[in-house]
Amino acid sequence: METDKPLMTLALHEAPEEATYDFHPKAFEEYLGQKELKTKLQLYCHAAQLRGEPLDHLLLFGPPGLGKTTLALIMAQVMRVGIKICNGPMLERTGDMVALLSSLEPRDILFIDEIHRMATPVEEVLYNAMEHFRVDVIVGQGPGAKSINLPLHPFTLVGATTKSGMLSAPLQSRFGISERLDYYSDEDLQAIILQSAQFLNLKLSPESALRIAGCARGTPRIAKKLLRRVRDFAQIHNQNHATDILVQESLNFLGIDPEGLTQLDHKIIKMLVEHNGGPLGLETLASLVGEDSQTIEEVYEPFLMRKGFIERTPRGRQIPHKRLQTLILQKTGQSALF
Ligand SMILES: Nc1ncnc2c1ncn2[C@@H]1O[C@H](COP(=O)(O)OP(=O)(O)O)[C@@H](O)[C@H]1O
Ligand SMILES: [Mg+2]
Repeated sequence: METDKPLMTLALHEAPEEATYDFHPKAFEEYLGQKELKTKLQLYCHAAQLRGEPLDHLLLFGPPGLGKTTLALIMAQVMRVGIKICNGPMLERTGDMVALLSSLEPRDILFIDEIHRMATPVEEVLYNAMEHFRVDVIVGQGPGAKSINLPLHPFTLVGATTKSGMLSAPLQSRFGISERLDYYSDEDLQAIILQSAQFLNLKLSPESALRIAGCARGTPRIAKKLLRRVRDFAQIHNQNHATDILVQESLNFLGIDPEGLTQLDHKIIKMLVEHNGGPLGLETLASLVGEDSQTIEEVYEPFLMRKGFIERTPRGRQIPHKRLQTLILQKTGQSALF
């Protein structure tokens, strides 16, 4: 029943350490965008609180950096319960899971990131725990070993995964609530950037914030990372004022073009153009540009699709026909892309 790896434990109202260096929303009001999802979760939290019950088990799915962990932390704050955070692959033995579950106080939240990557026996411990708040523990060894069925305090499991399809059916069916996080609009990202800039004491116009937002691929984590780099530039050049010129120069220095495309996006487009616009299978494309296929699928492709550079077909990824014509012309004209 002992875990040999420390589990990150957050006591009530305690924020992660990085919170000192950047702004992290601590309440639903500070969590910008994702309006519909927020409204639903607020309602569920409120209703559970009125009943004095734990929130139903919740599965959050969506690409990395969209705010899943942040939402779990906010829910713990709102419900005034403790939260334990761990990662699916980190839980190697059933004993790890049993120890973790037994350490929960009534109504606590157990947040498991990358929940689709748990070992099957560990996952199986969760089934009974989620449904009946009980776990089976084997005591003793050999012929004298006995199985004891132990009660647990009622808790809420919040699972996060990048793809719901990767979760096993028995686990998926035990979540009362399943919600998807979508990529953010540029306007929502603009608000998130301005919120962070204020916290970082950085002067930034709404127009400049929108410029950064346009390069953030619909993802708050990327938006905030870009903002911190812009702040580095501002710090060196003129204290804490990020003028629009400075923002443009910083983005340029980071290898991001005015459309928000990085060097790897360029490489992907170039490869496709060189292969007559495609179609190319994901794995082929990934090996041609030297990036892992999951990263291409989760980080690069969605933005390129939104920008109209790529479309998915049953035969692979390809450049839409009209776009290909302009790109070939650009290639002959030796534009910046080639
Ligand atoms: N809706 C939001 N409003 C403001 N900041 C956000 C929002 N969603 C995410 N963030 C910020 O973006 C970063 C990534 O969020 P995180 O919760 O770690 O994403 P995920 O768990 O989905 O990978 C964090 O710094 C977080 O504070
Ligand atoms: Mg996370």
